[in-house]
Amino acid sequence: MPELKFDITRVRQDFPTLNQSINACPLVYLDSGATTQKPQCVIDTTAKFYTDENANVHRGRHTLSENATIQYENVRAQTATYFGVNSSEIVWTKGATEAINLVANGLRKQVTANDTIIITPIEHHANLVPWQVLAQQTGAKLAAMPLNKDGTFDTELCLKFIKKQKPAIVAISHASNALGNITDLPTIIECAKSLGAIVVVDGAQSAMHLKPNLKILDCDFYVFSAHKMIGPTGVGGLYGRYELLNALTPYQTGGEMIQTVTLYESVYRDAPAKFESGTPNIAGITAFGAALSYLSQFRHAEIFEHEQAVFNYAHSRLAKIDGIYLYSSVKNNIGTLCFNYKDEHPFDVATLLDGYGVAVRAGHHCTQPLMAHLGINGSVRASFAFYNNYSDVDKFIDALQACIAILD
Ligand SMILES: Cc1ncc(COP(=O)(O)O)c(C=O)c1O
Repeated sequence: MPELKFDITRVRQDFPTLNQSINACPLVYLDSGATTQKPQCVIDTTAKFYTDENANVHRGRHTLSENATIQYENVRAQTATYFGVNSSEIVWTKGATEAINLVANGLRKQVTANDTIIITPIEHHANLVPWQVLAQQTGAKLAAMPLNKDGTFDTELCLKFIKKQKPAIVAISHASNALGNITDLPTIIECAKSLGAIVVVDGAQSAMHLKPNLKILDCDFYVFSAHKMIGPTGVGGLYGRYELLNALTPYQTGGEMIQTVTLYESVYRDAPAKFESGTPNIAGITAFGAALSYLSQFRHAEIFEHEQAVFNYAHSRLAKIDGIYLYSSVKNNIGTLCFNYKDEHPFDVATLLDGYGVAVRAGHHCTQPLMAHLGINGSVRASFAFYNNYSDVDKFIDALQACIAILD
């Protein structure tokens, strides 16, 4: 295994949750696909906000409120820089799920019964159900992209399918949350956009691992969750190409998103304000700024290289165990291992692993269509982040061998 260049010891010290024992064993946290751990600076920023800085944004004239507003807008600018877009193109939401709902609902006046919405079998339910609802409301047709037996896309087949369907919308993940496989988005986006489709990318899993420049990726919408980027829960966002974003119909209305209100009608503000009604998660957004600052101390390539080295090692060790069915590809993967052991229930494997301090996810991972496609009800999922190291892999494999000895 290649030597790690990253100062992983120091990084792990920054994440207090990692430095504890679970069931009398050192914690091996392999559930970052569900939510990442938080560095001390994110925890401290949250506490500092409520201790010293708490005030509402955009509505006060006093110092605390003005400072809170400045911080809140600064984090929007920081987020825009992270993704290579403009501040006015970032809308705060409570997560990727809300952001997809915002887009799907926001398009309801533009979509008609003559339209086709392409979805894919790898999608998280968050990127399926809102499109199903939109299709039901508008009469639009849903069409599922073809998928290889192993859960990977054949890009050529996808392009053929897109050309045949002439979709109005393509909703697709940048990386599968269950398998970790990375989608060949540039080719798919180019094809879909050449036919006039709006491309909505679920970036919940890719935002931290791949740090995409969204102007280069050239998608129209992209959603992310802060809690999968070492930030707090309850914060996420939507990037939208400005003209398309501003053309969405708000799906939540109320205070702060309006220009003027009379008793019987209102005039809305422009994006992003018109999608941010009510009091936002100010502390969370402020702490997300700390998460982005933390990430910015590394070159992204450095993080990715480290993650890939640890993931490749884990993949090769897991693949050698008799009776393991490994569904994740090793190539083009953000660092997720989706597997089963013989016909053992994934809950049993995950519960036994927990007994050795190893935290993995088990179940359908909110991807029931993908599980059906793979011919399984669920799987165990070990998902990695840059704070994992080779020792985590060794402990995980040792624990798995011990579980197997119990199960056999
Ligand atoms: C690919 C993908 N999309 C959407 C979501 C939903 O994200 P959130 O629960 O943060 O809204 C998840 C969460 O696991 C995900 O992995």
